[in-house]
Amino acid sequence: MGCGVAEVAGEEGSVCFGVFGVCGGGKTKGKGNGLKQFRLLSLLVVSLVALLALVGCGGLRGGGADQGGEDGTYTIKLSHVVTAETPKGAASEKFKELVEEKSDGNITVEIYPNSSLYGDEDEMQAIQSGSVQMLAPAGAKFGTLASQSQVLDLPFLAGSPEEIQEVVSKDSAIGQAIYENEDLAASNMKVLGLWDLGFKQFASNTPIRSPEDLGGQKMRIQSGSDVLKDQTETWGASATPMAFGEVFNALQQGVIDGLENTYANFYSQKMHTVQKYITESNHGYIGYVLVINEDFFNELPSDLQQAVTEAADEATEYNREIAFQKDQEAKKNIEDAGTTEIIELSEGERQAFKETVVPAVWDRHADVIGPELVEELKAKQGT
Ligand code: SIN
Repeated sequence: MGCGVAEVAGEEGSVCFGVFGVCGGGKTKGKGNGLKQFRLLSLLVVSLVALLALVGCGGLRGGGADQGGEDGTYTIKLSHVVTAETPKGAASEKFKELVEEKSDGNITVEIYPNSSLYGDEDEMQAIQSGSVQMLAPAGAKFGTLASQSQVLDLPFLAGSPEEIQEVVSKDSAIGQAIYENEDLAASNMKVLGLWDLGFKQFASNTPIRSPEDLGGQKMRIQSGSDVLKDQTETWGASATPMAFGEVFNALQQGVIDGLENTYANFYSQKMHTVQKYITESNHGYIGYVLVINEDFFNELPSDLQQAVTEAADEATEYNREIAFQKDQEAKKNIEDAGTTEIIELSEGERQAFKETVVPAVWDRHADVIGPELVEELKAKQGT
């Protein structure tokens, strides 16, 4: 039996309940009381069938029937697109360990890494429908549902790990804009954390030392972000939105020339093996928004809600402790592999990238990100 809304074909005197595939033929004589009673009865039966179908499909709980709860236990499926050893992979494992412990085993977390269950192209639909309960996508990936999350994509948002961790802390202007985001809430997502990945660098097969070197290159960007598209095109490159899980093959086959990303993601996806150069530009930040299906969360008993929020807070702290360190370990691993030359920019060379996009790109997207938020960030940087 499929989980659809009960279908009713209401020809006179004949009612079909599509969800069960049952039709009741009812020949009536005249249009008197008999017909009225029959219609009333039909309406009652239809309402009952619709209610049963809704409950059977988990509709009243806001998610799939396999979300549990009947015996007091729940399963959280957490899907993501990177490997287990990255900052997000490790923080997801930490969240699992913590929530299973804090809930006395009443919550089990199943982690699906590396786009093994859902990828960039279908994960938003999956969390909204309750096929998974948690995700931690980069800010850009919420672009169409909650465009303000593109604030995380603003180029040169911060100059050091310490500074970015302050700029995106829970109590910061950005933190508030993400945690309290009404578009995310309207999309049935509750924010549980903001996680770091790290600063972005350029990878390519030609050395990149200036915006001119990017001219004409086909650079992959994360899907969903007008800010990233604008930034990339301002530097003269062609911006190619693409799901993360497709990037390695696209690089290998020459569909794209390069991309911007972090050392941790280059190394864990072996992208360095098909890219001759990485330019350490630190020109942007990748941060993740840890979200849970809000209906699922609201259905949890309050002690289990507390277990989830505490575990998420502690996993967020853990992520903040390890993210930049893991990124540096990945850089070292790439250096040791000897496949890729790492170009470190001078401050002047980095400035040449910065002055073409700050504040121009920030200003062009202020309407979507929030003019006050952009002004506050500019004031903080003295821009
Ligand atoms: C991720 O780290 O989750 C993927 C980032 C990307 O798509 O570039």
